[in-house]
Amino acid sequence: MAPSTHFKLNNGTQIPAVGLGTWRSEPGQVRQAVSFALKNGYSHIDAALIYGNEHEVGQGIKDSGVPREKIFITSKLWNTHQNNVAEGLQKTLEALGTDYLDLYLIHWPVRLVPNESSALLPVNPDGTRSVDRSWDQNETWRQMEEVYKAGKVNAIGVANWSIPYLEELKKKWTVVPAVNQVELHPFLPQHALKDWCDKNGILLEAYSPLGSEGAPLMANPAIQEIAKKNDVSAAAVLISYHVNRGVVVLPKSIKESRIVSNSQIISLSSEDMDVLNGLAAQGKAKRINTPLFGWDLGFEDWYKQ
Ligand SMILES: NC(=O)c1ccc[n+]([C@@H]2O[C@H](COP(=O)([O-])OP(=O)(O)OC[C@H]3O[C@@H](n4cnc5c(N)ncnc54)[C@H](OP(=O)(O)O)[C@@H]3O)[C@@H](O)[C@H]2O)c1
Repeated sequence: MAPSTHFKLNNGTQIPAVGLGTWRSEPGQVRQAVSFALKNGYSHIDAALIYGNEHEVGQGIKDSGVPREKIFITSKLWNTHQNNVAEGLQKTLEALGTDYLDLYLIHWPVRLVPNESSALLPVNPDGTRSVDRSWDQNETWRQMEEVYKAGKVNAIGVANWSIPYLEELKKKWTVVPAVNQVELHPFLPQHALKDWCDKNGILLEAYSPLGSEGAPLMANPAIQEIAKKNDVSAAAVLISYHVNRGVVVLPKSIKESRIVSNSQIISLSSEDMDVLNGLAAQGKAKRINTPLFGWDLGFEDWYKQ
């Protein structure tokens, strides 16, 4: 069976299975990458205020000439805007040059309090991040539900939420998150999180599918063996793994040939999927994204899954 090109969100809307990542895509490069991707088969762009390049992403969208309604645009509420979701959203809409988003995510279940050290990545005098540990994530979600009900975004979701955090959110949500965007790859498959999200109608999205900067997971011998067997690149195996698993995947590239090849999803056999699904359990578990504010977010449990 051919792999899915789209998945359905819990509010009935469709989301393209592959989206172009834009983290660390420099201004000066990302405009061309976004425009090229949209002219060459992509219809889904993953952006965020903290990436500092939403203005250029917006320019790339315009350059492409593709009508807005044919593009699925995701962005994320940055941690320093958790107490004012409408304001954070407005900044993103203005930078991207659009009046609505297809999907808006809470970037991390953490509120950072801006201070004189930085507006976006504030630190305390001792160098730790200025996290507001008393902040209730249910309040952030309530504000997300408000912008959703006001029609400014077509779907809302979360990113970097582990099961304990989702369990807390579930106690009060009136809108079920459409998506949870998390680090996912064969070395961090998060099987328990996937089961939980499946049961609750939340679609997972895979970030850092290649292992982030420099695509280090491509060098893994087990991945290379499956790539050789299927006569494709290691990148194709790592990216296709997610779509075969019913998960959206967000590979980032600013190089035209890679942008094209990264969108070509292959069908993986159940034997290959079993190998990929089992690698982490053989002592190869690995988490790549561990930000300074990533304390106590359920990450430890993720390693065990
Ligand atoms: N929600 C979150 O907290 C969160 C966190 C991390 C990422 N994300 C999202 O997920 C996206 C993807 O994750 P990521 O950017 O961390 O990393 P990634 O997509 O796993 O890897 C990107 C790296 O791989 C290289 N690359 C891409 N395609 C390749 C190919 N076919 N062959 C060899 N190298 C290749 C890229 O270089 P070139 O650009 O030079 O090709 C870049 O160095 C992000 O851009 C962002 O949109 C979200």
